[in-house]
Amino acid sequence: MSAKNPSTKTPKTPPAEAAAPAGPAAIDALLHEKRVYPPPKEFRDKANVRDEAIYKQASEDFEGFWAKIAQELDWFVAWDRVLEWKVPDAKWFVGGKLNASYNCLDRHIRGARRNKAALIWIGEPGDRRTLTYWDLYREVNKFANALKKLGVTKGDRVAIYMPMIPELPVAMLACSRIGAVHSVVFGGFSAEALRDRINDAQAKLLVTADGGWRRGQIVQLKKDADEALQGTPSIRHVAVVKRGEFQVHMTEGRDHWWHDLMSDAEDHCWPEPMDAEDMLYTLYTSGTTGKPKGIVHTTGGYLTGVYATTKWVFDLKEEDVFWCTADIGWVTGHSYVVYGPLANGATVVMYEGSPDWPDKDRFWRICEELAVTVFYTAPTAIRAFMKWGTEWPKKHKLTSLRLLGSVGEPINPEAWIWYHENIGGGNCPIVDTWWQTETGMILISPLAGVTTLKPGSATQPLPGIVADVVNEKGESVPVGGGYLVLKRPWPAMLRGIYGDPERYKQQYWSRVPGVYFTGDGAKRDEDGYLWLLGRVDDVMNVAGHRISTMEVESALVDHPAVAEAAVVGRQHELKGTAIVAFVTLKEGKQPSPALMEELKEHVVKKIGKIARPDEILFTADLPKTRSGKIMRRLLRDIAEGKAVGDTTTLADPNVIARLKSRYEEQEG
Ligand code: PRX
Repeated sequence: MSAKNPSTKTPKTPPAEAAAPAGPAAIDALLHEKRVYPPPKEFRDKANVRDEAIYKQASEDFEGFWAKIAQELDWFVAWDRVLEWKVPDAKWFVGGKLNASYNCLDRHIRGARRNKAALIWIGEPGDRRTLTYWDLYREVNKFANALKKLGVTKGDRVAIYMPMIPELPVAMLACSRIGAVHSVVFGGFSAEALRDRINDAQAKLLVTADGGWRRGQIVQLKKDADEALQGTPSIRHVAVVKRGEFQVHMTEGRDHWWHDLMSDAEDHCWPEPMDAEDMLYTLYTSGTTGKPKGIVHTTGGYLTGVYATTKWVFDLKEEDVFWCTADIGWVTGHSYVVYGPLANGATVVMYEGSPDWPDKDRFWRICEELAVTVFYTAPTAIRAFMKWGTEWPKKHKLTSLRLLGSVGEPINPEAWIWYHENIGGGNCPIVDTWWQTETGMILISPLAGVTTLKPGSATQPLPGIVADVVNEKGESVPVGGGYLVLKRPWPAMLRGIYGDPERYKQQYWSRVPGVYFTGDGAKRDEDGYLWLLGRVDDVMNVAGHRISTMEVESALVDHPAVAEAAVVGRQHELKGTAIVAFVTLKEGKQPSPALMEELKEHVVKKIGKIARPDEILFTADLPKTRSGKIMRRLLRDIAEGKAVGDTTTLADPNVIARLKSRYEEQEG
């Protein structure tokens, strides 16, 4: 390893939680990474956070700490109370009024940022648009007026199904300007997935585009939207952006071209003063049951949380060029392409397409051309870059980069070191940021100016965040593995699951009473550093995105040939997790390669490409307990080629031996 400055000095122990006696560890602690990287002096000297006292300040005066950072935003009416907390319901900045789009736009255009680039957008075919804060402000105001004209009012839900084009953040900010709740559905989801999300949120309007570009191919969004719209009675109107010269069908009276709506829209729209606890958006994510959950985020706490974490974790300065490569369809894009950076008045890069189009250096070409300074991506992408080889980043001058980030899944130490060396030139700190759709904001991450890094560890909770590792009984594990839980509320935390308060309580607040259960396993080492170990429930993390095993199972069972299906995740070199499905066919149906393909496509149709099973194994029976519960744990062992664990509770232990040999046969 040739990285600059790795040190073997033991880092300082971070402020540790008061630890209860350790009980049986819930999860084995596996990693033993010894390399450490203290903050480079030149970084520390200029960092937004360079004094560790921030941790102490936050723990000594928790509410005062968050109030101080919230005051950096513009409020129409000041709050009366910082926090009202009655498990599991938090209210932040109670009585305060503000508007998210106002904080992302209006306050910047009054001063020196008026003509600063807010968005630099690059389309996959090579087209490019730059919107200054003023341009973005005007577009948002106009679209806000267009929405009003189409009858959208405060509290209405607006579904957004779009490619990564500037109109996507414009639509989101226009919603927040008038107090409508946006529900962005990732453009890679299928028509059926879109339909379910529209119906769950009872959205009144859909914003989409004729299409988008991905790997040189047209993604036919409008066509899929039309299919979805056959079963969405709540939708009154559809706004359609013309991205290309794609052929689409427009339904008279319902569908409107974006450019027509904008051509006669007034260019000023008063921002709606929103209560701090009014809903800003809902975003669907997978849970342990089949139905995706609409995670609810509100205005004041969310904006405070993403504003603060963008400033601390990404260390954004006036002159930075920030590129978070996530699609806005996921929470990372909501918080760190749109709301966090724009609330900070930053310059944001947005790219429409794939990292290997037209060549495998597309990201590095963009970094060089735009002189990107802070770059944030996912381990799955980093592992792909590693596989493609160093010749691609070497073609470009990446010296503008000063800070790198990672999100979405554990980053393995090899990938961390590769990223550090080959993208960061050995001297950019890496912030490995742990968080979730539900948390809204980054919660566990280094602060590059103060934290000594360990490759593969998200290090420690941010100031004001109280995380712990606990065993099955909910007791704190000072050193070792267990469940990751959060013990105090934080401003951007979810406020519930749309329309399902019971599920909210059940899912997050019942495993350890009074404490938020993340669903992740983690290990705490002797220095108090946290190492994330992946999901402990039936949710797979595929290429940094959550997919529930149940969701894929219900898609499979939906096919007329399938009687029963069990889905598990298996470790995958690039994607983190590959999807393996064990399928039992109905009487009289014959397994065949053609049927296997058909089933994979069926899942794509029901959910989207992201959920396509990598492998399907046809089997006459599945391992079940005597009470009929499928034992996925054993299937996971088979899929991973491991020795199969305890089978004593199986109704028929022979099933496993048969399955194992079939699987090995198929795997070759
Ligand atoms: O398992 C954790 C993993 O991603 C899950 C959250 O997924 P999602 O809601 O889709 O949000 C992804 C982007 C915030 C978590 O429960 N995860 C996220 N970041 C990390 C991570 N696992 C390890 N290390 C991370 N840095």
